[in-house]
Amino acid sequence: MLLDQVAAYWDRRAEGYSMTVHEELAGPVGAFLEDALRDALPPGDGLDCLDMGCGPGFFTILLYRLGHRPTSADYSLEMLERARANCAEAGYAARTVQADAQALPFGDATFDFVCSRNLVWDLERPERAYAEWLRVLKPGGRLLVCDGNHYLHYYNADYRAAWERDQCRTHDTRGVDPKPIDDIARDLPLSRQLRPEWDVATLSGMGLADIRVSRFGKTFLEPLAGTGGALTMNFILRGTKNV
Ligand SMILES: C[S@@+](CC[C@H](N)C(=O)[O-])C[C@H]1O[C@@H](n2cnc3c(N)ncnc32)[C@H](O)[C@@H]1O
Repeated sequence: MLLDQVAAYWDRRAEGYSMTVHEELAGPVGAFLEDALRDALPPGDGLDCLDMGCGPGFFTILLYRLGHRPTSADYSLEMLERARANCAEAGYAARTVQADAQALPFGDATFDFVCSRNLVWDLERPERAYAEWLRVLKPGGRLLVCDGNHYLHYYNADYRAAWERDQCRTHDTRGVDPKPIDDIARDLPLSRQLRPEWDVATLSGMGLADIRVSRFGKTFLEPLAGTGGALTMNFILRGTKNV
């Protein structure tokens, strides 16, 4: 089953990814995305939030810092272990759940806020995942997705040229061979889709309202600022579930 191969890869990445998340949380990426969460969350304190594909707990820790009650879900048990340890180190008792983003073990209208960073590209059935995330959101709840065109260079000449020029392929996996996920990504549906256009069309078709998108270059610290011709490498999408 592909999901087990994906989880096995992320199990191997958990230790190194956790180091990266520590650095991010202490630096400008953490500060920037904490602001993005604050801006996207519905009003109120102590909101029920889902960090989907939580990895070592990046959004989870930011949500705790902001005074909310995150549930941290991931399919990789090693990532969940890291999320618990990192939360404990930061003084929080994580609530972790092993779950497939495409078939959630939560009831309808459970959460005020669902967020996810760098997960959707990695899914076999991303439309199914979005339908599930909207199902578990309360009416009026908000969705925030951070993701990117991480493998569009396989299928799009402009992205291929940028990838070769900027050496995006040399992202730091801290000694773990990325070949298994690079091979899996060749057949994942979103490796062929220009995003966030695909996400906006899919989510608005599912009834997500007030969709807003911010586009970035190689990192979330390089906004494109609407410049013509610049390629979107990363993006933040947010929207509200209709009441
Ligand atoms: C690139 S990491 C991002 C981790 C974290 N969101 C962050 O930004 O630091 C992708 C995460 O998604 C998880 N993942 C991949 N496919 C999944 C699925 N179908 N259901 C749940 N989690 C999944 C992986 O185990 C991994 O922890």
